[in-house]
Amino acid sequence: MADGRKTIRFTLNGRAVSADVAPHENLIEVLTRDFALHGARVSCAQGLCGCCTVSVDGVATSGCLFLAPFANGTTIETVESLAVGDRLDPIQTAFLENAAFQCGFCTPGFIMMTRELLDRIPDPSDDEIRHYLSGNLCRCAAYPEIVTAVRSAARERATTKA
Ligand code: FES
Ligand code: FES
Repeated sequence: MADGRKTIRFTLNGRAVSADVAPHENLIEVLTRDFALHGARVSCAQGLCGCCTVSVDGVATSGCLFLAPFANGTTIETVESLAVGDRLDPIQTAFLENAAFQCGFCTPGFIMMTRELLDRIPDPSDDEIRHYLSGNLCRCAAYPEIVTAVRSAARERATTKA
């Protein structure tokens, strides 16, 4: 395309999709504009807050820094992929039941990062939780409740798998 736009193809929340993207666009802009996915949000736009966290090929990634053309051929999952119909993922349930948010702006990012944490460390210590989530910022300072929610989600996952 004359303006440098190109068509990319990738897997988004289990579905093969395509999008026409400009060289400068970031992944969140494309997910929002073309796929109406609003869970991951841009806050700092500098890779500092984690509000825009999505999974790219299984790795939690700041979508605000990820240039959309590089999404070609990848597998992307957003927070919208976690619930099955009306049934929430155990991590989402844990955040809800432990009131691990106030405004909720940061919550999708925390949930996606928590999912990666529990995939890698199924039974993390509180220090490991704090360390792993240290790149996610919550302006409402719901940090104690978030740690409690992550512990609760870890227990629930262990029970489900047992
Ligand atoms: S909006 Fe991407 S890290 Fe803050
Ligand atoms: S709940 Fe408001 S920013 Fe975290």
